[in-house]
Amino acid sequence: MKDHIVCLAIESSCDETSAAVVVDGRRVLSNIISTQIDIHKAYGGVVPEIASRHHLNNINPVIDEALDSAGIGFKDLDFICVTNRPGLIGALLIGTASAKALAYALNIPLIGVHHIRGHICANYIAHPELEPPFTALVVSGGHSTLADVRGYTDYEIVGQTRDDAAGEAFDKVARVLGLGYPGGPLLDKLAREGNPEAIPFKRVYLEKDSYDFSFSGTKTGVLNYLNSKRQKNEAVNSADVAASFQAAVVEVLVTKAVRLAKDRGRDKLVLAGGVAANSCLRESLAKACEKAGIKLFAPPPVLCTDNGAMIGCAGYYEYMAGAKDEKMNLDAFANAPLE
Ligand code: KG4
Ligand code: ZN
Repeated sequence: MKDHIVCLAIESSCDETSAAVVVDGRRVLSNIISTQIDIHKAYGGVVPEIASRHHLNNINPVIDEALDSAGIGFKDLDFICVTNRPGLIGALLIGTASAKALAYALNIPLIGVHHIRGHICANYIAHPELEPPFTALVVSGGHSTLADVRGYTDYEIVGQTRDDAAGEAFDKVARVLGLGYPGGPLLDKLAREGNPEAIPFKRVYLEKDSYDFSFSGTKTGVLNYLNSKRQKNEAVNSADVAASFQAAVVEVLVTKAVRLAKDRGRDKLVLAGGVAANSCLRESLAKACEKAGIKLFAPPPVLCTDNGAMIGCAGYYEYMAGAKDEKMNLDAFANAPLE
């Protein structure tokens, strides 16, 4: 066996085309991300067909750049991994087709990676000392998941959203406040100028012991509040709305995540996904974890949103655990469980 395992990782599940070269799972030689945010801005959200077309244009240059900036060639690769589930199906297919072609031509193994596992693994890159087991809170545009991570490839989903994902709720509220796209970071910024206690938006905890989430009621609360203000011709303080909505969502996320860590006796909590970049979530979780004696891990912003490096890390652990080389049989799936 070689001293080091080098992989090329490809991510194209939504609106970022990304490729990375990762050594031994945690050492990132390159992580090239081509984002389509400016293209989708005009539509107020990601248009799947347009995303696929841009992935198609971008994927080869992004892969070339990843190899160039890592200073390696195709011959140096030990395997290829690619996000093949879950995500926009047309977008996933561009990445998987490219990965298949390369793995076939180079005659090296091809590993399919679960996108959410990738988000969690971003923390292994950011924190060299981090090892499972731990509790993970994954909050992104498409997912809000609480998981018990028992090993590098052993995950148990304990809670999920029953309606909107946290990022989706942020984006929708940002849109009705006229903030633009993607709304999450803009809402985060505006909220810093507002009072989080100004409007008591509903905190939805569901059944007593449930670890599931539901954010659509809180989002509808914001819409109703804005409509009633409009009908009465009263001025709206957008910063207060943003801060109060954010506080309601964050309170539920933090409470459930810390409760799960305590219930499972975990002393580490890992935050992941695009919404992990949210400043209020990071601060509140840090405070709650400190109080509970739990060590909090979160990636830097560039590793929170979609990127190839996190897929390379997850792919490495799947590869080392003996994941099947899927070669020409690899398929893409719009929906897929984390387990
Ligand atoms: O993980 P990601 O890049 O894509 C998915 O897999 O969904 O997450 C994107 C989501 C978007 O909904 C975006 O608005 C949200 O993450 N987001 C934020 C922040 N930064 C990104 N939400 C709240 N506050 C932020 N600072
Ligand atoms: Zn993602």
